[in-house]
Amino acid sequence: MSDESNTPESVPYPRGIRSYVRRAGRTTVGQAKALETLGPRFMVKYQAQPADLAQVFGREAPTILEIGFGMGEATAHIAGLMPEKNFLCCEVHPPGVGALLKRIGEQGLENIRIVEHDAVEVLDHMLAPEVLAGVHIFFPDPWHKARHNKRRLVQPHFVAKLLPRLASGGYIHCATDWEPYAQQMLEVLSAEPQLENTAEGFAPRPEYRPLTKFENRGIRLGHGVWDVVFRKK
Ligand SMILES: C[S@@+](CC[C@H](N)C(=O)[O-])C[C@H]1O[C@@H](n2cnc3c(N)ncnc32)[C@H](O)[C@@H]1O
Repeated sequence: MSDESNTPESVPYPRGIRSYVRRAGRTTVGQAKALETLGPRFMVKYQAQPADLAQVFGREAPTILEIGFGMGEATAHIAGLMPEKNFLCCEVHPPGVGALLKRIGEQGLENIRIVEHDAVEVLDHMLAPEVLAGVHIFFPDPWHKARHNKRRLVQPHFVAKLLPRLASGGYIHCATDWEPYAQQMLEVLSAEPQLENTAEGFAPRPEYRPLTKFENRGIRLGHGVWDVVFRKK
């Protein structure tokens, strides 16, 4: 698939099917304070045209897109480990946005920008071709029930949108604790000729991805976690 024949906007995506639900959830006082004090500096308003990432981050650096950072625990950890990279992070859950802003303040991080918006639309409209050096999708909503499987993020039409935004040599790293979804990730990414698997099947957890509280709990309960890491040729 080439950029010319298959721009993200031209890839059919089931209309109205979202990979998330807008969950209720209270924003704490600390998160609200972080929103007020740090929001103006670290949040980027969604726009329907390609953003100038050098301007957004105030520097030229390889940019990693994170989709669905939840409360931002892994995000802040990884951004701290890799100050030389920019992290453009999408989440639709407002308390999560507040939580990541709070971590940015506490850890003195400079290399994160947050877009509080559907990442599928960000891919469609806000990113220019080949601007991404990597994509992180950690524990995306598993949509367990068969009738909800269509809401899973990692599907062929989504990857077809993502690929033109990824530079050659850029990577896609997904992790999940739901085995059927892990298999789906592996199948969908393996089927894409522009991508190569960095491992034989599932990948060992890259050292930069921390074991979060949620994951540690799962491991204690005997649940598995699967990572997949593919690179664009
Ligand atoms: C199960 S949580 C995992 C959060 C985090 N990555 C972690 O490992 O704890 C999935 C998150 O993805 C977010 N999400 C799902 N689809 C999204 C989309 N299209 N754009 C932005 N965020 C999305 C949800 O709001 C939710 O917070």
